[in-house]
Amino acid sequence: VSLKDYNTFGISAKAESFVSVTTEEELKEALSSSIDATPFILGGGSNMLLKTDLSGLVIHIASKGIEVVEENTDHIWLKVAAGENWHDFVMHCVNLGYGGVENLALIPGNVGTSPVQNIGAYGVELKDTFFGCSAIHRQTLTKETFSLSACKFGYRDSIFKNEAKDAYVITSVTFKLSKTNHKLHTEYGAIQEILKEKAIANPGIKDIAEAVIAIRSSKLPDPAVLGNSGSFFKNPVILKTEFLKLQQLHPEIPFYMISDEFIKVPAGWLIEQAGFKGKRFGDAGVHSKQALVLVNYDNATGAEIWDLAMHIQQEVKLLFNITIQPEVNIIEH
Ligand code: EPU
Repeated sequence: VSLKDYNTFGISAKAESFVSVTTEEELKEALSSSIDATPFILGGGSNMLLKTDLSGLVIHIASKGIEVVEENTDHIWLKVAAGENWHDFVMHCVNLGYGGVENLALIPGNVGTSPVQNIGAYGVELKDTFFGCSAIHRQTLTKETFSLSACKFGYRDSIFKNEAKDAYVITSVTFKLSKTNHKLHTEYGAIQEILKEKAIANPGIKDIAEAVIAIRSSKLPDPAVLGNSGSFFKNPVILKTEFLKLQQLHPEIPFYMISDEFIKVPAGWLIEQAGFKGKRFGDAGVHSKQALVLVNYDNATGAEIWDLAMHIQQEVKLLFNITIQPEVNIIEH
């Protein structure tokens, strides 16, 4: 089975066998029937690079449904099936006036995988509205719930990337959203510019979602048009002492303060300085409007994208002595 239509990079890797599941029963059956100890779980396929063909079983999570679990005057708790598309869920909330996820509009992928890397954009992270999630243990097939604190969320990080890596399949995520007194996040410069341009003095969640959609559409390629997995690398966090040395050499280097000790540098800037922005190597390339995004022009293989990524990593290391690390999951079997 070709996985081309199941990963936003549009890589034509093959799966030895493939099953799409819509219920927990079907998921359990697929997990227990697999002779492969660790079948590959596929959600929206938006944060991964299929480096090779996959031997064994691929289980595609296709469950649907959004359920109200609780509601009071100020908040609503929604339980969302893992297979729901993330952006559709965001727009569902925006249209019904539920606040909290509007800054995360247009992030590719599904709800079920959103906690894994604690998706985030424009000043908001998944953890800000996350209430809990349910997951099936891959070996015991028991159902477990994870609270906000149990997930140990960090920047593009959670328990599902560490201790619990490959141990569970998330089946639903519950969000706590605001119905009144929305706490809007407009601090990101580009959002402010759009609100100013449109002369919106008192923005609502719909205005924020529209601004985010406009910003993302202007610099991030649409996976339906140009294969990609969003930011390919994480923004590196370095010691302030190291940063100050770099700043002497490159006074214009952008940065975000993390703490008194640590500073985050945009990897997109490092990659652009290394001369890769807009460069194409066969069918693999670096996006012309955002250097942090690697793209598949047509028929790049996972290995070709990976070679380009490693080439970029080396050049950035040579130039800045910083090793940037992939943010996307590298899948090989
Ligand atoms: N920059 C450059 N050249 C580039 C790209 C960026 O110089 O080609 C510099 C600019 O100084 C720019 C700064 O980097 O001001 C930050 O760029 P941007 O606002 O595009 O954000 P980012 O740090 O590159 C992160 C997330 C994105 C998220 C945006 C907005 C990571 C790895 N990426 O990107 O998330 O949308 O912030 O919040 O943290 C994703 O994870 O897939 C993703 C798209």
